[in-house]
Amino acid sequence: METGLQLVRTRAALSALAKGWHDLGRTIALVPTMGALHEGHLALVHLARERAAHVVVSIFVNPTQFGPGEDLQSYPRDLQGDVDKLRAAGVDAVYAPPVEEIYPAGFATTVHVEGPATAGLEDAFRPGHFDGVATVVAKLFAQSACDIAVFGQKDYQQLQVIRRMSADLDLPVHVIGAPTIRETDGLAMSSRNAYLSPQERKTAPALHRALQAAASAIRAGRSPQRACAEAIKGLKMTGFATDYLQARQAASLAPLTADYQGPIRLLAAARLGRTRLIDNIAV
Ligand code: PAF
Repeated sequence: METGLQLVRTRAALSALAKGWHDLGRTIALVPTMGALHEGHLALVHLARERAAHVVVSIFVNPTQFGPGEDLQSYPRDLQGDVDKLRAAGVDAVYAPPVEEIYPAGFATTVHVEGPATAGLEDAFRPGHFDGVATVVAKLFAQSACDIAVFGQKDYQQLQVIRRMSADLDLPVHVIGAPTIRETDGLAMSSRNAYLSPQERKTAPALHRALQAAASAIRAGRSPQRACAEAIKGLKMTGFATDYLQARQAASLAPLTADYQGPIRLLAAARLGRTRLIDNIAV
């Protein structure tokens, strides 16, 4: 009988837990994370608890999704604090494997993703990032034997990449996207917000405001290209350097075409000092 939270470090221990639950006919939800948990992650946990009998949260700062010069070494880590938050949130197990458990000696296989992964958004600035994400997520799905998995819409391109991968590889996991949780001033919650100086933190919500203004302009009939160009100009005046701010087809992330009638997503990445923020909204 399982009570309280179990901290699991190995695949073998995780598989044993999952088998025990499945033998009892119970479903498992996985919430994959890299730790440094905030309210946004806890919202994913709450959704997972609503959808499955048992919830596993993985905490693994995945080296293969960081490029050279990115923040792998400095990425915030607080396993004890994370476990405390997850215990309070009613999680059954935390899977926090060491790197060798995910990438043992001789590891030689990578999931290579295209489609939404090569849309020219995050992928244009973080080469190889989505192959690293897809590889670790495929492994976490297999290791946890989860029935459902919950990802935040804040990483919208990642969510579409994982949906595509799951469908293409016939992975028996139902992928759920959870709405972005925001600070009261609109800034999307992110572990990387911790990098912002107090002054940058005050400026940061301008990214969300710029997306909202562009979305209203498009709804009012402005061309998406023009609305995005205006948003980028406005962000520049507030001190952001924008990597991209674009309107795309919501599912495939392909560029909008003249005959496209479906839902539109606005996606942006912009740098404030040394911090790179991403955000997105539906139009
Ligand atoms: O979104 C994240 O935190 C990571 O990309 C994920 C999905 C946990 C894979 O490492």
